Amino acid sequence: SCGPRRVLRHNPTSMRVFSGIQPTGRKHLGNYIGAIRQYVVSQERAVQAGDEAIFCIVDLHATTVAYDPPVLRERLYDTAAVLLAAGLDPDRCILFRQGDVPEHTELSWLLSAVTAHGDLNRMHQFKEKSAQQRELISAGLFFYPVLMAADVLAYRAGEVPVGDDQRQHIELMRDIAERFNARFGEGLLVVPEGRIPEVGARIMDLQEPTRKMSTTVGTDEGRVYVLDEAKVVEKKIKRAVTDSEDPPRIAFDPEGKPGVSNLLEILAVCRGTRVGEAVASLADARGYGDLKAATADAVNAELGPVRERYAELRADEDALEATLAAGADRAREIAAPVLADVRAAMGVGPAVRQRA
Ligand code: TRP
Repeated sequence: SCGPRRVLRHNPTSMRVFSGIQPTGRKHLGNYIGAIRQYVVSQERAVQAGDEAIFCIVDLHATTVAYDPPVLRERLYDTAAVLLAAGLDPDRCILFRQGDVPEHTELSWLLSAVTAHGDLNRMHQFKEKSAQQRELISAGLFFYPVLMAADVLAYRAGEVPVGDDQRQHIELMRDIAERFNARFGEGLLVVPEGRIPEVGARIMDLQEPTRKMSTTVGTDEGRVYVLDEAKVVEKKIKRAVTDSEDPPRIAFDPEGKPGVSNLLEILAVCRGTRVGEAVASLADARGYGDLKAATADAVNAELGPVRERYAELRADEDALEATLAAGADRAREIAAPVLADVRAAMGVGPAVRQRA
């Protein structure tokens, strides 16, 4: 058939998954554990439930701070290759580039009608990122959360796997969806839920374990990159800051023992066990050196295969482009009818005759 099919009004327990990832910086262990790993889990859950898992590399969000266009394109390929290497499978999910699907930008404008300026002003991420800008605080940086809301709402996604730092953005997109539905028609948009992992949502900097591992703050010693060589991973983890409790005590206590607790959390996630089991496995340890060795091994066991697959995938940019283009086609098939509903409900554009 030609033209978009009318989409049924939403199923309130939608298992459709959507998440977005910035194509900036080198991806580190915090990104990997907090987000990328969750994507792969979500992909499987969505497939099981017979729904779609949709992952978007958000190049348009990356233009809201100072950046270099050729570098953006490089990082976009880097990010696509990392996601595929980590286990996203174009046969089991939709992976695409935000800028390829104009429905996102159109919907962000339409949603601005039900977005409170005051709410945008309260966004922590805007405050933090605007403080870092030297030349210009772009209006795009202020508007960022509306585009993010549009990313998710354009697909009527029910679940949004994200790291802990995205809570406020998720709350805002829920408010926007609720206000939109109240104003223009109940059930038009799905009010999504954030899915924030209980363990691993906040991986801390290895050198300053009271601060989150971050692309922009801290030094390279404090973060393990997904693509660091095994030896580098080992070195960074061996030098991780712990504490001087005497005798050393391997216990999970993020307040009192942030460095040790961070390593335990990394160890548990990479082994796929609970933190309690990680602690128990170190009952005979002689000190923090054993904890660090175990953690480095677990991280390398997890990241080793990702690094190998990455090298192959990253080398073929044409193949990456083809994957992204196919993903964008599938994304538009879902988003276009949602946009048609939104435009119609808002009275934008000509009246649409109901299809039979
Ligand atoms: N703001 C998110 C981050 O910095 C990235 C993002 C953009 C996103 N659009 C999204 C996440 C939609 C989830 C859903 O990590």
